[in-house]
Amino acid sequence: MGRPLLLDLFCCSGGAACGYAAAGFEVVGVDVVDRPRYPFRFVRAEALSYLDRLICGGGVRAFSLIHSSPPCQAGCALTQGTNRAMRWGRDHVQLIPDLRRLLDRSGLPYVIEQPNGTAPVRKDVTLCGEMFGLGVIRHRNFELGGWAAAAPTHLRHRGRVRGWRHGVYHDGPYVAAYGNGGGKASVAEMQTAMGIDWTDAREELTEAIPPAYAEWLGRSFLAGVGRQTDLRRAA
Ligand SMILES: C[S@@+](CC[C@H](N)C(=O)[O-])C[C@H]1O[C@@H](n2cnc3c(N)ncnc32)[C@H](O)[C@@H]1O
Repeated sequence: MGRPLLLDLFCCSGGAACGYAAAGFEVVGVDVVDRPRYPFRFVRAEALSYLDRLICGGGVRAFSLIHSSPPCQAGCALTQGTNRAMRWGRDHVQLIPDLRRLLDRSGLPYVIEQPNGTAPVRKDVTLCGEMFGLGVIRHRNFELGGWAAAAPTHLRHRGRVRGWRHGVYHDGPYVAAYGNGGGKASVAEMQTAMGIDWTDAREELTEAIPPAYAEWLGRSFLAGVGRQTDLRRAA
């Protein structure tokens, strides 16, 4: 038997994808922008239209799990035809409600990933870099559709995120893997802190989730259980 297939919607350069691959999945990524550094099979497409077509054509049944990381800025600049008719191509559209409807229609288990904020997602699991001994805090929330995993213990942070805030410089064991300047991480620091070495594009690094997060999700899914675990000690 081959490896279970995972559909990686809004894949960017594959932070999540590499974690799922390490957990044992074969991965197919979809992004509206060309991502030549994505290390797996890649489809350039608008994610909701693509999923809609997969559901209608039955191709979705080849997959075991769908991961999605929709843009968190409640807006995306797209395009034509079905997208526009369905309102997915207009500026400042919150994609998550339509995305969730499609994911439910797919009949498959799924993950919707979001950073903290106002996005309409459940926080079934929240992961933090400290759980994996990483050099970022990077809290990310995951809504799990059709499956469950027990959230791991949120460990106490070892210190602060390095950088300038409100005119004061703070040192600390974590780097800020977003934005630029103000003591934020260099590309090399972001790569090391998150465990990503296949892209040096700053934008892709600032968008990525650390592969360790997706590896944990993938392994939990494949094990069919979610155990309360101190991942740093278990590693
Ligand atoms: C937050 S990033 C995903 C990060 C990725 N999960 C990772 O770990 O590296 C969101 C991505 O969604 C893409 N995107 C935005 N709107 C899209 C759409 N409607 N369809 C497909 N991709 C889209 C962007 O180009 C961007 O690469």
